[in-house]
Amino acid sequence: MSQFWKPGTEKPRSCLVDDEEGGVLFYAAPPSSSGHGYSSFERLRQRLPVFKYRTAILYLVEKHATTIIVGETGSGKTTQIPQYLKEAGWAEGGRVIACTQPRRLSVQSVASRVAEEMGVKVGEEVGYTIRFEDKTNQGVTKIKFLTDGVLLREMMNDPLLTKYSVIMVDEAHERSLSTDTLLGLLKKIQRRRPELRLIISSATIEAKSMSNFFRTRKKNDGQASEDNGPNIEPSILSVEGKGFPVEIFYVEEPVSDYLRAAVDAVLLIHEKEPVGDVLVFLTGQDDIDAAVQLLTDEARETTRRHSGLLVLSLYSGLSRADQDLIFTPTPKGKRKVIISTNIAETSLTLEGVVYVVDSGFSKQRFYNPISDIENLVVAPISKASARQRAGRAGRVRPGKCFRLYTEDFFVQDMPVEGIPEMQRSNLVSFVIQLKALGIDNILGFDWLALPPPESMIRALEVLYSLEILDEDAKLTSPTGFQVAEIPLDPMISKMILTADALGCLEEIITIAAILSVQSIWVSVRGTHKGLDEVKLRFAAAEGDHVSFLNVYKAFLQSGKSSQWCYKNYINYHSMKKVVEMREQLSRLVRRLGIIPKSCGMDMQAVRRAIISGFFAHASQLEEYSQNGMYKTVRSSQEVYIHPSSVLFRVNPKWVVYHSLVSTDKHYMHNVIAIDPSWLTEAAPHFYQQRRPSIPLF
Ligand code: CDP
Ligand code: MG
Repeated sequence: MSQFWKPGTEKPRSCLVDDEEGGVLFYAAPPSSSGHGYSSFERLRQRLPVFKYRTAILYLVEKHATTIIVGETGSGKTTQIPQYLKEAGWAEGGRVIACTQPRRLSVQSVASRVAEEMGVKVGEEVGYTIRFEDKTNQGVTKIKFLTDGVLLREMMNDPLLTKYSVIMVDEAHERSLSTDTLLGLLKKIQRRRPELRLIISSATIEAKSMSNFFRTRKKNDGQASEDNGPNIEPSILSVEGKGFPVEIFYVEEPVSDYLRAAVDAVLLIHEKEPVGDVLVFLTGQDDIDAAVQLLTDEARETTRRHSGLLVLSLYSGLSRADQDLIFTPTPKGKRKVIISTNIAETSLTLEGVVYVVDSGFSKQRFYNPISDIENLVVAPISKASARQRAGRAGRVRPGKCFRLYTEDFFVQDMPVEGIPEMQRSNLVSFVIQLKALGIDNILGFDWLALPPPESMIRALEVLYSLEILDEDAKLTSPTGFQVAEIPLDPMISKMILTADALGCLEEIITIAAILSVQSIWVSVRGTHKGLDEVKLRFAAAEGDHVSFLNVYKAFLQSGKSSQWCYKNYINYHSMKKVVEMREQLSRLVRRLGIIPKSCGMDMQAVRRAIISGFFAHASQLEEYSQNGMYKTVRSSQEVYIHPSSVLFRVNPKWVVYHSLVSTDKHYMHNVIAIDPSWLTEAAPHFYQQRRPSIPLF
């Protein structure tokens, strides 16, 4: 059995365990406190580039309503600025300093870092909130990290966000849908709360256009109290980084398989280059797992040459123990290889990285309002992203970046900047949130980037058909208002509310929780006999959703055993999340005055509840199709049941799917068999009046 690294005498604090298949390595989580004394943190803090600007930052925030701060990744923006603000008194009198992040993982990670620096426990003076997890203590928490999505939700109860004195919108360059929505709304809030301070921070940002956005005011925006309030002219501060130069290498010819090329590059670096960690940018969990496997196999063949490699993966959804490993210093004589999604591009700082391998791609959301299909597509990154990725190599000393694309491709084919998510997303959740905030004229609102009218129309149509909006595009009562309270996709929320009426809410909550985690199965490449057999054991004739219920029941019967999960190819970490999320959802519906009931074995009720949310995702098997081709009822799109589904090859005549994923074909993920008459019953307006061209079953 080969290993990348054998635990020996110079074992790091954590210990190493290798799995039975002989390759992928795991550490046990390191002890949480690394033994830093408070004062040693003080010294570290003062060495960060942002420290020199401490006084300037506090001055600008005092004087200006909005301050835009640009500074290289690792310069200390996220961890230090909230602390400076607190030290300067911005958290006194019960006020709170908020700092938003686009990703859950970075929220948790920076919160624990800042808590550690301040010598407090997470959840006390320093806390965080992500969807379904609140680690704050009202009245005690002074610095709060949260996703921008969570802050948007807080606006529903407190439209002016009155408890915050300063809101720092971090990683603004990512232009996520939630960040852009938040910036639009915060601009409005500033008019009403001149005492509120905004900080827009980022590694790379078009500071000028951001500044223009906050400077200009629409005529009807209301009066700002310019006499006694802060200067409404945004200030811009650029933090000089201390990044070292990074030498860039390109491939001479385009590579056909970037995964293979990435693995080769890592091996080459390990063989030829002096010590220093390697950061590899791939696109998603599948890719990353495959690369880890390839590196493992490679090392098995040439153990001696590649010993000393420590391979870790980094993507959102990683367990806390695995996250901690990423930040554990590399043991002496070893080389850490972190294979990551673009989460490591700017939002996390990894110490010790000297080499970067950049695939040139990332997974991006693209929405087509005509077919109503939103897909995560592997697409080329922008030049700005490529530069950021390269920059990660120059943190501790001069580094090297190996780009797995040609220089021509960089110069000619990569866009200068990415397209903001608002212009390439399904806007259903966006619309419902704004409606809940009482914003009716969405297209007339001041956004950094205008949402495409076609996507807006499509979103309104979907919400109308779900009876969440009425004919005047107002939230319906109570459905619309209740759906807005539930932080899930409105189709899932609708399914939950109908399940109450059908008496199967216990079951539907379980399904909703399982649909919200990435996958309950352990990830394997391609087909896997063991996994297929296990799936058959849980398979229900009705389809995937009902099979999930079987898995969940069996998991409970096992006493929530990790051993049981391991034997059944079930991801224990995901199941724990499901249990947690279930509890949260249960609490949430109770708050809406709903008591969950179980329907026992009545799976028809469960299927009908699913249809009430997902009727627009119905497809019919093509009559003479030999290869299992379906057509969607909505747009006659050619689709197929995904091989991972329990209904793969079963091919019932009518199905409803949870989502579509496109690779070589459009695949329906998570499918249940239905009776078509349920569709007309669930959504007569959708299937009869509004769509007369659709056959009435
Ligand atoms: O936000 P920005 O990229 O400017 O930097 P930061 O996240 O505030 O990180 C500043 C420094 O804190 C990094 O250079 C790391 O040395 C350290 N840090 C860490 O050790 N562990 C974390 N989870 C976060 C930051
Ligand atoms: Mg940061």
